[in-house]
Amino acid sequence: MKQDNFYITTPIYYPSGQPHMGHAYSSIIADVFARFKRNDNSSVFFLTGTDEHGLKIQKSAEKNNLEPQIYCDKISKVFNDLTKVLNLSNDDFIRTTENRHHLAVKDLWKKLLDSGDIYLSKYKGWYSVSDEAYYNLDEVVDKDGKKISTYSGSTVEWVEEDSFFFKLSAWQDKLLDFYNKNEKFILPISRRNEVINFVKSGLKDLSVSRTSFTWGIKVPNDDKHVIYVWLDALTNYLSALNYPNVQDKLYKNFWPASLHVIGKDILRFHAIYWPAFLMAADIKPPNRVFSHGWILSGDEKMSKSKGNILDPIEIINTYGVDQLRYYLMKEVSHGSDGSISLQSLKNCINSDLANNYGNLCQRVFSFVKNNCQNQITNTKALSESDTKLITDTKLLLKNLRENMNNQNLNDYIKSVINISFLTNKYINDEEPWKLKKTDTNRMSNTLHLALEQIAKISILLNPIIPNSTSKVLEALNIDKKSRNLSFLDEKNILEDKIKINNLNILFKKIE
Ligand code: ME8
Ligand code: MG
Repeated sequence: MKQDNFYITTPIYYPSGQPHMGHAYSSIIADVFARFKRNDNSSVFFLTGTDEHGLKIQKSAEKNNLEPQIYCDKISKVFNDLTKVLNLSNDDFIRTTENRHHLAVKDLWKKLLDSGDIYLSKYKGWYSVSDEAYYNLDEVVDKDGKKISTYSGSTVEWVEEDSFFFKLSAWQDKLLDFYNKNEKFILPISRRNEVINFVKSGLKDLSVSRTSFTWGIKVPNDDKHVIYVWLDALTNYLSALNYPNVQDKLYKNFWPASLHVIGKDILRFHAIYWPAFLMAADIKPPNRVFSHGWILSGDEKMSKSKGNILDPIEIINTYGVDQLRYYLMKEVSHGSDGSISLQSLKNCINSDLANNYGNLCQRVFSFVKNNCQNQITNTKALSESDTKLITDTKLLLKNLRENMNNQNLNDYIKSVINISFLTNKYINDEEPWKLKKTDTNRMSNTLHLALEQIAKISILLNPIIPNSTSKVLEALNIDKKSRNLSFLDEKNILEDKIKINNLNILFKKIE
């Protein structure tokens, strides 16, 4: 893959219920990285979609009295519609019921069979339909008369059936070697350690087909079996690039994937099974898996099965999409779990968006409109306070690219919002409304620098709050081509002589 190509994915979600805040969260994180990379001049392919096979989906369809395909068409559309409501910039939306995906999965299966990594036997053990996952004997305990997985808390059932197996045990050392050579394959680091410990404790061969139901992709030449839904689902990352056509431009440009964004519930599949399948098929594993924590509601994981769901669409209708995006990205620390509530959403919007960034834009734009007919010329005489603001800003800009490239979004946002805070303070100290009477040159320079700061902050916040920042950048007459991050390498954005447009209020304060 070329250096400047960036392939980023979200999990493909089960259409077993309506999408909720957890799904929105993963998708927005991935969208922020995708937008940042585009603004930083990479060529980006951003994929999301739905995972439509397996017993879990078959059962949901039955519950709704619908044929599985019809049921999937219906709910998958809801997930696809949500990408628009969330303002995701995804380049494609894959469904595992599509023909292109079937072709990819069957090809991968054949490769694994040909390499001797798949054999026929019988599975006896625990299975969770809710997780679509097999668990070891030592991962299952009794709770209230039920058997549950200690890993996920889901109920498990005993399964005995004919099954093909993938020789995962044979990949244990190669996986450990792979983690060793690729220190940032799993981020955050705490998750990496979990995975390494699990692999070191010993890997058993993995059952990769089922014979007790039919809703899935049939095993080539053995249609009593359907392919295990996780082997099926993971392959979506390849099928969207038109694999198995390895000469295809998409595949050539974008494989291996740069970054799979996932929740910690599905780390095992992405960080253990997926690279093992790929290495066995002689395909390069992805560069990185970033696994974020839970969105909690109170102390509990927000989930379809628990029914404690905050509806992203309701929040967006009430407060706005940028508001929700900003809140989730700022307040939920990406490594760990985070509780969300309406109260903290309001506080966050008011303090960072309305009172800080929004206020900065509003006060500068309206002052320039009312006092300078929207035109400012910079005479380039820097005062001590200008130099200080510029130096302090440079310091805060220094680690931003690295923060993003290591998925450290929390520090990134803190630094950017701090630049906005410093700029507000600069205006308070410089008092352009007084300079208007005493020194109009100085007033112009002050306003010009403030607008330059606003331009930088807006470009930096653009991946997170694309709608509002676009309004500001348009009002500054900064065209789409120039909204990139080359200023991080110490350039200014604005010309010395500028004309700006009026700006309407960006963020209403919430009472
Ligand atoms: O696991 N907090 O699909 P899924 C944060 N189809 N993120 C959450 C969340 C929460 N409370 N709840 C869900 C599957 N998520 C498989 C994936 S990929 C090849 C196949 C997010 O519908 C998080 O990213 O159960 C989690 O990993 C994903 O939704 C699970 O979605
Ligand atoms: Mg799930």
